[in-house]
Amino acid sequence: MSVRKRYVQVGVGGRSMMYSQAVIETFASDCEMVAFCDNNEGRLNMRVKWAQEKGASVKGYGAGDFEKMIAETRPDVVIVTTKDCYHDEYICRAMELGCDVITEKPMTTDEKKCQRIIDTQKKTGKSCTVTFNYRYSPPRTQVKDLLMSGTIGEVLSIDFHWLLNTHHGADYFRRWHRNKENSGGLMVHKSTHHFDLVNWWLSSVPKAVYAMGHRKFYTPETADRMGLTQRGERCLDCPEAKRCSFYLNLRENEELKGLYLDNEKHDGYFRDRCVFSDKIDIEDSMNVLVEYETGAKMTYSLNAFCPWEGYMVAFNGSKGRLEHFCQESVYINGDGTVPGEMIAGQTTVKVFPHFKAEYPVEVWTGTGGHGGGDPILLADLFSSNPPKDKYLRKADQRSGAYSILTGMAANRSMATGQRVFINDLVKNIGIPDYPPMSR
Ligand SMILES: NC(=O)c1ccc[n+]([C@@H]2O[C@H](COP(=O)([O-])OP(=O)(O)OC[C@H]3O[C@@H](n4cnc5c(N)ncnc54)[C@H](O)[C@@H]3O)[C@@H](O)[C@H]2O)c1
Repeated sequence: MSVRKRYVQVGVGGRSMMYSQAVIETFASDCEMVAFCDNNEGRLNMRVKWAQEKGASVKGYGAGDFEKMIAETRPDVVIVTTKDCYHDEYICRAMELGCDVITEKPMTTDEKKCQRIIDTQKKTGKSCTVTFNYRYSPPRTQVKDLLMSGTIGEVLSIDFHWLLNTHHGADYFRRWHRNKENSGGLMVHKSTHHFDLVNWWLSSVPKAVYAMGHRKFYTPETADRMGLTQRGERCLDCPEAKRCSFYLNLRENEELKGLYLDNEKHDGYFRDRCVFSDKIDIEDSMNVLVEYETGAKMTYSLNAFCPWEGYMVAFNGSKGRLEHFCQESVYINGDGTVPGEMIAGQTTVKVFPHFKAEYPVEVWTGTGGHGGGDPILLADLFSSNPPKDKYLRKADQRSGAYSILTGMAANRSMATGQRVFINDLVKNIGIPDYPPMSR
């Protein structure tokens, strides 16, 4: 029998359970979870108890005891699923202490932290995997397949528009994501997925970025216009609860109550802050122009207050055009529903060759979170013998960096009104391993 890899996980909130289950249940013959770490004692104890009930021999450590945890439990790999702004601390410390890392997106939240991760990885030689689950969802892999096989020739320009609806989109304005110092704003926190997809779809990296953005929906003025004038700091005791379409009832949902409401006494983390608060400092509407090293140009937008959720992307190539449309289900992070499920019949791929009739392509399908991407990602991460992947979907710190740098450049461009060059932000990244493209 082969030796099982030893894992610890830092951050045991909404997203983290997927990884805990993969290590402790699905891939138990290849993996062993030996400890959890979190700054919230309540959530930490819950996860340790859950794992022990599954028969895992795990310990729990507070955030201040991270190094002690590494020394005592000697993991091979640290899984980082904390708040975005702390990723860099755990990624770098883990590599310095001799561990490989698997981290959730975004790899980190600003240029300085990104440079530190790039430098630390080079210095230590440890691996840093960034989990881009969107690459693995079958229709998005299919788009890669069509582009890399030269279906529309060389991609010269892209139109990409992502819509977050008033359930999922609003949720970014309720908790830590609402402040740039925690999340980098939606340009980093959310668009890292989209910018990574484009880098990988094109097998290229961004060169220059220009952006504009604002927040005009999730504001006190919008709430006043809706007649919601007696707002509280949070939904739980808000006098407007009955009249507000954005009311989130933490008491009613078992998952949200158990994970957040019951544990807020430990750290004051309120999961249901008012989406119209004047304390929010991220944009809810962003328009970005990106130039890639191949010369391709992209027009991208993200709006977080739409009636439906999903995206439209079109590639204009030297031999034709490819259009991909996707509508996703409604969900709220951590409420127990499957995140980012695609709605059957509402995901399409169409090719428009030059001088020939257009044709629809039968869409690849999958089940599970994020358009079926999560289960395939987990097998790639935790199986000791993952299938060979011609799409090279497993990503490291180089892809992690380029996916956030477009957003960081966009943030800088929004602040200065100037075009921003990626090379001015972070040095010595190296080019990610992308599959070759046919033309
Ligand atoms: N790939 C995806 O589709 C996807 C989806 C959701 C979330 N995420 C990512 O997963 C990560 C976690 O997000 P979430 O929704 O679970 O958030 P969350 O707020 O539910 O959980 C974060 C956890 O980190 C803990 N934490 C905070 N500061 C810490 C510190 N300094 N040290 C140790 N632990 C700390 C919190 O107590 C909490 O348990 C984020 O990076 C987020 O961007 C990715």
